[in-house]
Amino acid sequence: MCGLEYRGYDSCGFAIKDNSKIGLKKTKGKINLLKTTTRPGAYFTLGIAHTRWATHGVPSFINAHPHHDCKKKIFVVHNGIIENYRELKAYLKKKHHRFCSDTDTEVIPHLIEEFSKRHSFFEAFLKTVNMLKGSFAISAITSSEDALFFARKDSPLIMGVAKEGFILASDIPAITPFTKNIVHIKDGWVGRISRDKFEMFNFKGKKVRAAAEKTDISLGAATKQHYAHFMLKEIYEQPHVCARLYSFYVHNTRIEFKDLNMDIKFLKSLKRIFIFACGTAYHAGFVAKYFLEKICDIEVEIDVSSEARYRRFKLGPDDLVLAISQSGETADTIAALREAKKRKAKIVGVCNVLGSTITTESDGLIYTLAGPEIGVASTKAYTAQVFSLLLFSLHLAYLRKSISTAFFKQCLSELRSVSKHHKTILKNAASIKKIAKRFSRFGCFLFLGRGINYPSALEGALKLKEISYIPAEGYPAGEMKHGPIALIDEYRAVVCIAPRGELYSKIVSNIQEIKARKAKVLAIVEEKDREAQSLADAAIHIPSTKYSQISPLLVALPLQLFAYFVAKNLGCEIDQPRNLAKSVTVE
Ligand code: AGP
Repeated sequence: MCGLEYRGYDSCGFAIKDNSKIGLKKTKGKINLLKTTTRPGAYFTLGIAHTRWATHGVPSFINAHPHHDCKKKIFVVHNGIIENYRELKAYLKKKHHRFCSDTDTEVIPHLIEEFSKRHSFFEAFLKTVNMLKGSFAISAITSSEDALFFARKDSPLIMGVAKEGFILASDIPAITPFTKNIVHIKDGWVGRISRDKFEMFNFKGKKVRAAAEKTDISLGAATKQHYAHFMLKEIYEQPHVCARLYSFYVHNTRIEFKDLNMDIKFLKSLKRIFIFACGTAYHAGFVAKYFLEKICDIEVEIDVSSEARYRRFKLGPDDLVLAISQSGETADTIAALREAKKRKAKIVGVCNVLGSTITTESDGLIYTLAGPEIGVASTKAYTAQVFSLLLFSLHLAYLRKSISTAFFKQCLSELRSVSKHHKTILKNAASIKKIAKRFSRFGCFLFLGRGINYPSALEGALKLKEISYIPAEGYPAGEMKHGPIALIDEYRAVVCIAPRGELYSKIVSNIQEIKARKAKVLAIVEEKDREAQSLADAAIHIPSTKYSQISPLLVALPLQLFAYFVAKNLGCEIDQPRNLAKSVTVE
């Protein structure tokens, strides 16, 4: 259960079976609260547990999972959303079922109870599953059988096969401490696990074949080591992640994407790319859009997945879709991917978790190799996405002959140096900490960037707001005069991303406009910078690069460290910010 807490942590609970009795414990808040109320050393062989990210009903004891039927004999945990729960609840109330929570989930144990009156437990479970609309990964236990029942539709669920028994979980990192043998349960499957065997069926009750595969995710990668927070540890992992990506994809001066699975002819003649992603992954895609357009001479359309899936893009077999996601389980991105698939576009998943839904449903894969990311605020997964996508853009440009060999080689050598540059930036963490202390008193931040660093500004603002709860907006600096500059006065803090490059003099002018209105400016500048730095109230340096288009890979680190230290100063819960979850598996 601890392994799952990063998926939601506003309440939690478990139900365990001891002979024919089922005991229930739950609480509002995090798992450590539950531990204090639980008898140490309790032994059991069958149980279900859940950590919640509230969708229906406030975080509370009553709304925490597991939920049960009227007689407290059937217990259920559920991830996802039951869209028709109101109709089902009305139907069940007419049959005199009593409800105690505000959740959509609670209809499930009551439906099973209702159908169990005339059917075996498994038949009742299957009948229930077939009545549910929406998305769900469910597991259930009953006092009448020594078995665990489960079903999956549009919400992730996997099963681990360990020496001691079987474990169901929403994703792989939660169970790697126990086993590396994983069965990927498919959408539309239900199953039953007993002491020494498991069986799986489709929703019609027909048996399906399911086999375990070995995962390569190691437990070591998911521990905090000596760092105060996972976020800090993951920030410090970035030089290694970039070095790993470089040696994985670059061989001498050749870039090779083994799992891309795209015909070279198709890539050469490609006219449009669509990018779908959410949050930080969207910002990584936005950086890639600038780069792809610049060097591949290609039209790139990008949208957040939750919008993209409802838009009527002209999308067809000649188009390529990049679905970017750290977890590979983000419901909005999966929905956008499926929509694109219906229209026969080719899909490449840009993903950090092998075996996740996005990797299995895409035609090809760009594996981002960041290793498990536990901090809710994405850091190393972002740089890994940007790094892989820049490599992919270079690969595409090379195939399409839209860049010279000299430029290709220069860019590769710049990318090889990113890891070294990251180490230089990280050595400077103490001075970023001091600056963060000075800026922690501001109640509102603007992050400004131009060109390929406009997405960096969006990402910097997202990092700060999600872990420190300080309102922060990312803006293209040139857009200030069209409205946001009205916000500027001596009480505002503005972070200006100003590495050298074609738009440098423009952003220097923007800094001047801000200073004229007395806001405090923190500038992210290159080592040898004079102009922008002389205008700013504080400056953080990044190493200079020959090709400015790779600067988002460097700018990201000071922005992450700045957000981290501000949040730390304010005493915020950095790895598990309020209201958030690491994997957003509901729409
Ligand atoms: C970023 O810090 C957030 N945790 C969030 O925006 C995240 O990037 C988004 O939910 C997408 O997740 P994914 O990459 O797993 O699809």
